[in-house]
Amino acid sequence: MVTDETETTSPASLASSCSIAPFYDRDGITIYHGDNRDFIPHMPRWGVDCVITSPPYNLGSEPWPHLGNWKPGDAAGGRSKWRNGSDAGAGIQYAEHDDSIPWEEYVRWQRETIASIWNFLPDNGVLFYNHKPRCIGGRLWLPLELMPMNAVLRQIVVWSRPGGMNFNPTAFVPTHEWIMVIAKNEWRLKSRGVAGFGDVWQMNPDKNSHPAPFPVALPARVIDACAPGCVCDPFMGSGSTLVAAKRAGVRAIGFEKSLEYCQLAVERLRQNVFDFGGLDAATPVAV
Ligand SMILES: C[S@@+](CC[C@H](N)C(=O)[O-])C[C@H]1O[C@@H](n2cnc3c(N)ncnc32)[C@H](O)[C@@H]1O
Repeated sequence: MVTDETETTSPASLASSCSIAPFYDRDGITIYHGDNRDFIPHMPRWGVDCVITSPPYNLGSEPWPHLGNWKPGDAAGGRSKWRNGSDAGAGIQYAEHDDSIPWEEYVRWQRETIASIWNFLPDNGVLFYNHKPRCIGGRLWLPLELMPMNAVLRQIVVWSRPGGMNFNPTAFVPTHEWIMVIAKNEWRLKSRGVAGFGDVWQMNPDKNSHPAPFPVALPARVIDACAPGCVCDPFMGSGSTLVAAKRAGVRAIGFEKSLEYCQLAVERLRQNVFDFGGLDAATPVAV
């Protein structure tokens, strides 16, 4: 574990009741290695006021069958090239997560995750939940299915990407994702001015060795717009949310079940230190 002895108000203390040591804890940025379900129930309600996250999309499993055709004129149920096409496929190859769990199980899991985040958020808290509409089997699926009954969807921000892949004749190429703003009643943007960001955010994807990172610009904009006290990413991946938080000088906590991605996040946080003029040149150890 990497610790900062002087950081007495670190997010590490927020989840101390789960009695699992942090994987990394420095400069107000804390990473826990493990299943987020082992941590989220222990989050105190006064701790994190902003959650920014992107869960696995379960791309290897679909709520209804594919058309199975792949060029104009082919009949439904015919050729099966679409299994590897634009709107679904074998799923993302995560190090330690199967992106093709049964659909109903996936929906239940995500509803429970959002509900448990909603439970710990304070009255001015907010969850920015990244997911994407998918055209499957000739029908549009919307991530609204993942909303639990008790949480409130305030707005859908569109993350517009510069391009898409996998052209086929059944739909225009999808080039956007959703950022669902799931907000408690007292949540507000930090100013009227930042409302001017609008609800369509043009952002290029970032690349790193994680198979599905979102760009650091995305959590950076959220942090800029909300001025949170402490952010959390329960599906931390390569740590983009934590990198953005560190740059903004905001406390952050991340949960990630893959050891490989925890190590990648630490490396990025360390690199980020170098990016910003060597303010803290300490090298993480024993990760
Ligand atoms: C879409 S990726 C997140 C990518 C991240 N936004 C980034 O920029 O790198 C989802 C991540 O959730 C992780 N994951 C899946 N199930 C998890 C769980 N139950 N607890 C913690 N992490 C989990 C996966 O290993 C994967 O890295």
